[in-house]
Amino acid sequence: MDERTAARDILAAARRLVVFTGAGVSADSGVPTFRGASADALWGKYDPYQLASPQGFAADPKLVYDWYNWRRSQLAAIHPNPAHNAIATLQARGAAVITQNVDGLHERVAPPGCMTILRLHGKIAADRCSVCEYAEQIDLHNLPALRPCPRCGEYLRPAVVWFGESLDPAVWRAAETACKNADAMLVVGTSGEVYPAAGLVRLAARNRAKIILINLEASPFDDLVDVALNRRAADIMPQLI
Ligand code: APR
Repeated sequence: MDERTAARDILAAARRLVVFTGAGVSADSGVPTFRGASADALWGKYDPYQLASPQGFAADPKLVYDWYNWRRSQLAAIHPNPAHNAIATLQARGAAVITQNVDGLHERVAPPGCMTILRLHGKIAADRCSVCEYAEQIDLHNLPALRPCPRCGEYLRPAVVWFGESLDPAVWRAAETACKNADAMLVVGTSGEVYPAAGLVRLAARNRAKIILINLEASPFDDLVDVALNRRAADIMPQLI
């Protein structure tokens, strides 16, 4: 049996499917990934500590905020790709989606009534205050500048989880519960290098979920997977649905 057929069979038999995604699922929409062979990989060109940590923001809030606005400006011009649409089909059949992505592309095609998408690392199209938790949505087509929180005066920062920050406890608990109960997990486009998020794959496997991995490069999950497809997500995903 070829890998595609094996993956299709696992997805068809799954009753409690979790789809776990990383930046690779959005790569075919033109969103740069963070790591890997791509020349556009963000952490190959920029210092994550300087641009994606509370310390970096404290050191130079305008540099960090302008860099996120650069990323936001890119997102304003892109669209979900066939991988997002295929995942939306799985959501319509009851699958849960847990994503490390902040780009909002899953949300743009999610079917009505589907389970809430669990965004582990927050949302780039929003700002929040680190002190008083004031938050506001951002219009990607009308980007604001670095500005003080209207409630407490602290600078507003992108509503994403930076290195060294904790995930939202409620989101994390829901993600853990979904993975403990899953009978299958479809892992799409993640290097599996960032914890605690990456630990969810091992958690699902420990609970006897079948693991399908779609990734362009080798990943730390290779010993766990039942089916590995080293293909572009936008190409292979529609063939699995
Ligand atoms: N199809 C499938 N896989 C792809 C594609 C594609 N078209 N393009 C790239 N990939 C794979 C790469 O081979 C790589 O292994 O997707 C993976 C992307 O890995 P990362 O860039 O590390 O992204 P991710 O795993 O989501 O990073 C996790 O790190 O910096 C933090 O907060 C950030 O959420 C992010 C977290």
